[in-house]
Amino acid sequence: MAVTRTFSIIKPDATRRNLTGAVTKMLEEAGLRVVASKRIQMTKEQAEGFYAVHKERPFFGELVDFMISGPVVVQVLEGEDAVKRNRDVMGATNPADADDGTIRKTYAESIEANSVHGSDSDENAKIEIDYFFDEKEIVG
Ligand code: CMP
Repeated sequence: MAVTRTFSIIKPDATRRNLTGAVTKMLEEAGLRVVASKRIQMTKEQAEGFYAVHKERPFFGELVDFMISGPVVVQVLEGEDAVKRNRDVMGATNPADADDGTIRKTYAESIEANSVHGSDSDENAKIEIDYFFDEKEIVG
């Protein structure tokens, strides 16, 4: 299987509870390698742009407010079939539906404060990586 990249965000509910290391450990144990990582405070414009695909959804405003409520850690992850591998270890969007042993089942507080974001396709992974990283910041 091909080694590919995906994009991950450790969200404000997780950074607030000092879970950056714990979440990253679960990603690494799932076979993903962190090839870029930075802790940032997203601006409102950045968050609105990142989640633009959801702008007509009723939860859009709250989602943007939540994502700028504290620092996040944006990461590029590399591994075999990285998008699926990451989605498997994250678990379902709503932690109430997530399987045991997943990041969201273990740490998420709610469907909004769900600790992590991960790209849903190779195509979106590239778009999302390019949104936050220059190629020279990614060191495999
Ligand atoms: P994420 O994978 O970052 O992609 C969009 C986010 O919107 C999602 O995780 C959730 O945190 C959030 N989200 C999705 N559905 C809902 C919902 N019904 N109510 C509130 N937030 C949601």
